[in-house]
Amino acid sequence: MAKKIFAANWKLNKTPEEAREFVINLKNETFKIEGFFDKCEVILFPSAFSLEAVSTLCAGTAIGFGPQNIYSQNSGAFTGENSAEVAKSLRSEFILIGHSERREIFKEADADLNKKHLLTQQLGLTSVFCIGENLEQREAGKTLEVCLAQLEKGLQGANKSERLIVAYEPVWAIGTGKVATVEQVAEVHQKLHDELVSKGYASVQLLYGGSVKPDNAAELLKINYVDGFLIGGAALKVESFLQICNKA
Ligand code: G3P
Repeated sequence: MAKKIFAANWKLNKTPEEAREFVINLKNETFKIEGFFDKCEVILFPSAFSLEAVSTLCAGTAIGFGPQNIYSQNSGAFTGENSAEVAKSLRSEFILIGHSERREIFKEADADLNKKHLLTQQLGLTSVFCIGENLEQREAGKTLEVCLAQLEKGLQGANKSERLIVAYEPVWAIGTGKVATVEQVAEVHQKLHDELVSKGYASVQLLYGGSVKPDNAAELLKINYVDGFLIGGAALKVESFLQICNKA
């Protein structure tokens, strides 16, 4: 059976010291669980200041990691931005792109996200590309339309044979404790799968994100085309993160 993916988005949390502590605990605890990395692929998204600490401790392990955002160019006069090339030099394999907080708070447009995705691919890294509708769009019956448009614009011109991870996160379910129902997740994931396959994507995996917790993870993981989760709050502590992973 294919491995399930458990991606931790720490957002703007954890000092480098706290990040180190998490990885040390995670390594110790997963070492005790037989075959853990045969069933689970773990990806950590620390904030930029903690990336190096995570990189150092993850060296030689099966734990993947990467930044929560990059700029669409590798270097130059872009004060305050973070470089994908530098993330790669720190051995990142993944880049989180288009999280709804980037789209909403930082006004990142589909065209910006598309550039970031293309750059990620040029560097040989894998995007975890986020999409999802807000409450107003859901209530207006526009969920699928919104998600498919975000995909279409965000992935334009991409290499379809490279690995791609898409994270569906309904914005109204993020950090609210309101998890999407099994039917809602199933409908969107089925549609995303069909769409991506029909467009010729050879290697795509779909994550669900939004208030994933140890007590709802098992049910969500059973849904067709849910290949894992992008987890916020419950991924801040090793204990709850592993309780979720252990549902694989
Ligand atoms: O990217 C993960 C995230 O937005 C979901 O957050 O706290 O609802 O699991 P949370």
